[in-house]
Amino acid sequence: MRASDAVTRALEEAASTSQGQLVPAEDCPVRSIRELKGDGTDVYIGNIAFKRCNWWEVQGPERDRLMAENIVRPTGDTGIIWQVSDFLASSHHRRGIMTVVLRTVLDKWAIPRMCMRHLHVSVFTGNNGSVRVFEKNGFVLVDTIENCIEIRGEKRSLHVLDWKHVV
Ligand SMILES: CC(C)(COP(=O)(O)OP(=O)(O)OC[C@H]1O[C@@H](n2cnc3c(N)ncnc32)[C@H](O)[C@@H]1OP(=O)(O)O)[C@@H](O)C(=O)NCCC(=O)NCCS
Repeated sequence: MRASDAVTRALEEAASTSQGQLVPAEDCPVRSIRELKGDGTDVYIGNIAFKRCNWWEVQGPERDRLMAENIVRPTGDTGIIWQVSDFLASSHHRRGIMTVVLRTVLDKWAIPRMCMRHLHVSVFTGNNGSVRVFEKNGFVLVDTIENCIEIRGEKRSLHVLDWKHVV
């Protein structure tokens, strides 16, 4: 995957000049979720990805201001606000997979290597599975905003959830 290769390359380059210091990462090199079969083969079943927050639920100049402040922070800055997107094949829903995947990438990579301390996500109202995955990982529902975005001519409402790293 091109995005994962780019993260790995950037980390390798930084490591070659960092004299043994651990270099903070802007992204997670592992995004694909794969099921390992009994015969040793594996199959793609989903995806998880972090990026800097885009405050989907906020409109106009306020959104521009929030994004501009967030984007200038250097990689590894604990003040960066992040968002996460995830997807799992419907054949694998409701087995606890995404709850564990999110917990694992946070604990094993995002917190220690991206210095992630704050996540801010929005979820379409009605997507109860997604809200539960976040809540089970310590996210708190902070707002529900009715009809805040328009998608293909239809007004949609969003739940907004926040997560802060507790040491
Ligand atoms: C949302 C999604 C990632 C959930 O993944 P998952 O692996 O099925 O979730 P889990 O099995 O870890 O379930 C976590 C909790 O959510 C609940 N849950 C899962 N799907 C649910 C649904 N459709 N409705 C209600 N609750 C649901 C589970 O029961 C569990 O809660 P519990 O432990 O209190 O019983 C998956 O449904 C998906 O990929 N959906 C399509 C893409 C999407 O919506 N992504 C999120 C965009 S914000």
